[in-house]
Amino acid sequence: MQRELKHIAIIMDGNGRWAKRLGEKRSFGHKKGAEAVFKVTQGCIAHQISFLTLYCFSKSNWKRPKEEVDSLMGLFSSLIEEHISSFNRYGIKILHLGSRDGLSENVLSSLDRAIEETKNNSVITVQLAINYSGRDEIKRAIERALSDGIKSFEDDTLLKYLDNPFVPEPDIICRSGGEKRLSEFMLYSANFSELAFYDKLWPDWDANMVDEIVNDYSKRERRFGEVIE
Ligand code: IPE
Ligand code: IPE
Ligand code: MG
Repeated sequence: MQRELKHIAIIMDGNGRWAKRLGEKRSFGHKKGAEAVFKVTQGCIAHQISFLTLYCFSKSNWKRPKEEVDSLMGLFSSLIEEHISSFNRYGIKILHLGSRDGLSENVLSSLDRAIEETKNNSVITVQLAINYSGRDEIKRAIERALSDGIKSFEDDTLLKYLDNPFVPEPDIICRSGGEKRLSEFMLYSANFSELAFYDKLWPDWDANMVDEIVNDYSKRERRFGEVIE
């Protein structure tokens, strides 16, 4: 069974190794990684992908050295602010995926401004997963359901309480940098997602990698538990 590729989710990994190879600090890799974000987003737009989720910072990434965390947070806030006009030029709608707890006022206000100012865009929706973990999203979904008075749970009840419930489940979850794990990413929505792992480190990604993903996806047979004759 083939299904239209609507939603690509990416674990953007390998910035640190990329910088280390050049004898640079990890934060240099993160800056270069930001350039890849824009190229890959353009690639997704060219392929008429409707949803792109980018894993930018996991809840476990707070355990990294303060210098690296601060530089990443500064980067998120400045890049988001700086690019609001280009988000609007290209029709990019920004959403946040993850917990607000623990994020600085700076990051939250940049995110909120981008979300508000891009809310009417409809070319592509980009979810920025910042301060995200799959278990945390599930926990918060349960909390929201309980506070809504839900007492009995159907198989799909929690779907309605995820961070952005109107975003469809990812058709394919990709990871750069060669590691083959999910690292807490989209544990609930990954239900039937295809998985694809690429050795190329994230700062080396560009729009051509989206061609590769689209091509890889076209060869997958999605069965959703059924028998396909
Ligand atoms: C991914 O690259 C970016 C973040 C996790 C913020 P890494 O920083 O994990 O790079 P490697 O995996 O150490 O090379
Ligand atoms: C996953 O990468 C998180 C992001 C890409 C934001 P990590 O580099 O943090 O994951 P592990 O530590 O290799 O599992
Ligand atoms: Mg990593």
